[in-house]
Amino acid sequence: MRIPRFSSLSLRKKIIIVNILLLFSVTLSAAVISILELQGFYKKKIIDNLSTVIDECEFLLQNSAVALPDEYAFLTGFAETARVRLTLIDSTGRVIFDSKVPQDSLPRVENHLNRPEVLRSRTELTAHAERLSTTVNHPFFYLARYYPDGFSAQNSPAPFSYLRVAIDLNEVHFFYNELRKKILLGSLAAIIFIAALTYWVSGRVTKPILELAKTASLIKSGEFDIRFRPTSEDEIGELADVLNEMLKRLRQDVVELRKLQTVRSQFLANVSHELRTPIFSLQGYLETLLEKDDLGPELRKDFLNKAFRIAMRLNILLNDLIDISRIESGEMKLSFRHFKVHDWLEALCQEMQNKAAAREISLRFSPDTSDRTISAIGDTTRLTQVMSNLISNAIKYNRAGGEVVVSYRKVENGVRLFVRDDGQGIPREHIERIFERFYRVDPQRSRAVGGTGLGLAIVKHIVEAHGSTIHVSSDINQGSEFWFELKIS
Ligand SMILES: Nc1ncnc2c1ncn2[C@@H]1O[C@H](COP(=O)(O)OP(=O)(O)O)[C@@H](O)[C@H]1O
Ligand SMILES: [Mg+2]
Repeated sequence: MRIPRFSSLSLRKKIIIVNILLLFSVTLSAAVISILELQGFYKKKIIDNLSTVIDECEFLLQNSAVALPDEYAFLTGFAETARVRLTLIDSTGRVIFDSKVPQDSLPRVENHLNRPEVLRSRTELTAHAERLSTTVNHPFFYLARYYPDGFSAQNSPAPFSYLRVAIDLNEVHFFYNELRKKILLGSLAAIIFIAALTYWVSGRVTKPILELAKTASLIKSGEFDIRFRPTSEDEIGELADVLNEMLKRLRQDVVELRKLQTVRSQFLANVSHELRTPIFSLQGYLETLLEKDDLGPELRKDFLNKAFRIAMRLNILLNDLIDISRIESGEMKLSFRHFKVHDWLEALCQEMQNKAAAREISLRFSPDTSDRTISAIGDTTRLTQVMSNLISNAIKYNRAGGEVVVSYRKVENGVRLFVRDDGQGIPREHIERIFERFYRVDPQRSRAVGGTGLGLAIVKHIVEAHGSTIHVSSDINQGSEFWFELKIS
């Protein structure tokens, strides 16, 4: 089986693995430490107990009035009550009494002078050792006391130099094993409990993250209308809120983009439609001129004239198209500067007199103020484009003998510019739409007077780029008025 890399594991598995490893090391070291501490504690307790037994034994030997050989029975009884093995050894190492060995077998007992506890007691006076007894074949804990001058008691069975007590360790070991088992079982129970808890908690922690991931993958597959459900009030909940905000913006962007796309394709359809008609008629005139040799010079000239005018119109259309696409893509940069409103408008009206006269319209420049020094801020090239569009509309959609008035007036924070005519006016239901590209009230008439349908769209864009709005008010057969404001310096 291949072991997966830690980083490739799920969040939940990581949490569980780390927690359990941590738990294992903590519990195991706690268990080992407590077992070692308890063992030390009990060893000290055993030594204390055995010392007390030796003290008691000394006291009894010194104070009992029992005579030999009952002395041995007395000592055996004492050892049994104290649950110890009692051994008396003389200075040469010979065992003279052992509570676990019958008195007549003693001569066969090995010399005890080299027993570790006995050996060490010669220097330490009291010494202990833990080992298997060769005499009785059991693990024992021994405590020996040395009497350098021999134990002198009136009724000691025989003179001895070492008093040794021992306790069967089997009992103690049994107790140790019980203790160890309990501690280990307790640790195991703790590990299982905390592991289960970790499993549960990690599930709760990772669930909201998994939810987020699920939602995100749905969004990836194009479902934009769902939202991240905030399942908790912690950092993950916060993340969900942020993601929702992001999604909201994304959704807006997508909507915007789609709208833009339809606008673009509509624009393309409009443009090709606008171009097709003049190009067809141009083709028609040129074809006739090429194929019909019998055309009179008058007709020939007429056709050439018409073809020329169509070419001119195509040129105007092309310029308007370039303008509007540059404006809309943000490519057209305005260069603002101060200029005298009066001088600028006066010159512009002068230039447009011919156009007005050609249609028998009187074009008048009549300021609403006597202040000729008003200076506005703007891009005069672009503003000239605005005003000439408005003025030529006022001329074109007028009637013979009509009048166009160009004017300006100072207002709060700026100057308001007007173009007013007393022409045909714009029907109410069309007013909203005349600023759209290619929108005309009467397409036939617009084309007849050389319009492209783009003029007011360009006007609107340029006016808005100056931080202003273009307004219109119109009454049918009464005339129209267009106005906007510029900042003054
Ligand atoms: N002063 C006006 N009086 C009446 N109608 C107007 C006036 N100005 C604009 N319009 C209407 O608004 C439409 C859009 O104008 P515009 O965008 O300049 O396009 P174009 O003049 O090329 O047709 C015109 O076709 C016309 O129907
Ligand atoms: Mg126009």
